[in-house]
Amino acid sequence: MNIILLGPPGAGKGTQAQRLQNDVGMVQLSTGDMLRAEMKSGSALGEQAKGIVASGKLVPDALMVGLIENRIAQPDCAKGFILDGFPRTEAQAKALDTMLDKTGKKLDQVIEMVVDEAALTERVVGRFTCAKCGAGYHDRFKRPKVDGVCDVCGSTDFTRRPDDNAETMKTRMAAYRAQTEPLLPYYRAKGVLKKVDGMAEMDEVYRQIRTVLAEA
Ligand code: AP5
Repeated sequence: MNIILLGPPGAGKGTQAQRLQNDVGMVQLSTGDMLRAEMKSGSALGEQAKGIVASGKLVPDALMVGLIENRIAQPDCAKGFILDGFPRTEAQAKALDTMLDKTGKKLDQVIEMVVDEAALTERVVGRFTCAKCGAGYHDRFKRPKVDGVCDVCGSTDFTRRPDDNAETMKTRMAAYRAQTEPLLPYYRAKGVLKKVDGMAEMDEVYRQIRTVLAEA
């Protein structure tokens, strides 16, 4: 099964995609994580993306489509994938349609994570991640069981994203509203759009996603 998790910054796409990947074996394809890996490696693409990501604007479509096209072609994606952060523009959605057609794959569901905008900045500003294994946490909503120690790998080293601040969130939200939100009618017209309540507790959001997937 191939799905898209669609929602604004901080909606919980990454949190739920990681859980699905662990439980169901579908592959999480996070374009944000891919860009951060490129930036960390100092690649030409990473250098090109750095300033754009820091500003909260969107990276050009051609770069993102190339990244996803290469990734979807990898053998592990044959068992199904979860797109997390892609597509984000109509051009990306159309390019995705074309690449799925070309490879004989199908988009089964697009799951909209519905959230109150007021909650998003708190979610994003409080987020931190284990620097070693990438497990995600939150100052208020998901603290490690032992303060300062990763539940998953025991590391004591954590990082915060430079774009996770209130100022950059304004630009990220504006980009979401102008460029990504129009994808909702695009997928509704295709008959693949479902909604879950992204304001619920993380376990409840996950339960709703599993219910939607079971109905696909
Ligand atoms: P990206 O990394 O994709 O960021 P994003 O879409 O802004 O999404 P986030 O990662 O901020 O949020 P999320 O929905 O995954 O939430 P999470 O689960 O972490 O993109 C970063 C940048 O890269 C973009 O701004 C752009 O520049 C560029 N980019 C990426 N893809 C692109 C593309 N396709 N085209 C162009 N440019 C692109 O949750 C957030 C926090 O809330 C966590 O701490 C979590 O613990 C907590 N939380 C989660 N769920 C709940 C809940 N139910 N209740 C309480 N807390 C919760």
